[in-house]
Amino acid sequence: MNSYKQLPNHIAIIMDGNGRWAKSHGLSRTAGHEEGAKTVREITTHCSKIGVKYLTLYAFSTENWTRPKLEVEFLMKLLERWFKSELSIYLENNVRFKAIGELSKFSKSLQKTIKDVEEKTAHCTGLTQVLALNYGSRDEITRAFKKVIENNLDITEENIDASLDTATFGDVDLLIRTSGEVRLSNFLLWQCAYSEMFFTDTLWPDFAPKELDEIIEQFTKRERRFGGI
Ligand code: IPE
Ligand code: IPE
Ligand code: MG
Repeated sequence: MNSYKQLPNHIAIIMDGNGRWAKSHGLSRTAGHEEGAKTVREITTHCSKIGVKYLTLYAFSTENWTRPKLEVEFLMKLLERWFKSELSIYLENNVRFKAIGELSKFSKSLQKTIKDVEEKTAHCTGLTQVLALNYGSRDEITRAFKKVIENNLDITEENIDASLDTATFGDVDLLIRTSGEVRLSNFLLWQCAYSEMFFTDTLWPDFAPKELDEIIEQFTKRERRFGGI
C-alpha cells in the first residue's frame, strides 16, 4: 500500500508569491516569474509520475492585466517561451496540455502557439495539465450562461457545468494556494464547491514535490461528506 491510495483526481493550484520570492532574494519580479516557471515544470512532472489525472494551474488572471505594462509584457513573452520549450517535456511525460480562460485577448501568435501545443499533445493519455490563462471564474461562468442561452438550453446545473471551460475535467478535489494568502482570487468558484482547501506560506518558487506529497497525505485523512453525514 502506498501513500497515494486516495490520490485526488483533480488538483488545482493558485501559484502565488513569485514577486515576494524575488524581493526576498534581492531580484526583480520578473526573476521570480522565471523561477516560478521552473516550479510549474517540477510539480507537473511529479503529478504525472504519481498518477494525478488533472492538474489545473492559475497562471494569469483576468485581473492581472492591471499590473505594470512591463510586467504584463514580460509574462506574455514568458508564456511564448514556455510553450516553445515545454512541448518536448509534455510529450516525454505523456502529458496532455489544455488551456482555460478567455484566450482571444492574447496576441494572435500566442493564441496560435497555445492551440498548437494543445493539438500536439492531444493524444497523450497521462496527466492533463490545464493552464488558466486570462482566466476569471466570473468571466467563465458568464460565458457559460451565454453558451447555454445560445444553444437554446434550459438553465440547469448540468447545462451550465457542461458549458464551462473545465467541462471535461470535473470538479476540483484538492485546491492549494501558496504564499500565505487565504482567498480564491476569482479562481474556479463553481468547480471548488466541495474541494478540500490547503493554504501554505511557501512562496510558489519554493514549492516542492515533497510539500505536495505532504498535502496529499493530509488530504487523504480529511473526511469529505458532501453535505451528508
Ligand atoms: C503569482 O505571483 C504569479 C502571477 C500572478 C502571474 P505574484 O506575481 O502574484 O507574486 P506576489 O503575490 O506579488 O508575491
Ligand atoms: C492570483 O494571484 C492569480 C494567479 C496566481 C495567476 P494574484 O497575486 O493575482 O491575486 P491577489 O491579487 O493577491 O488576490
Ligand atoms: Mg500574488
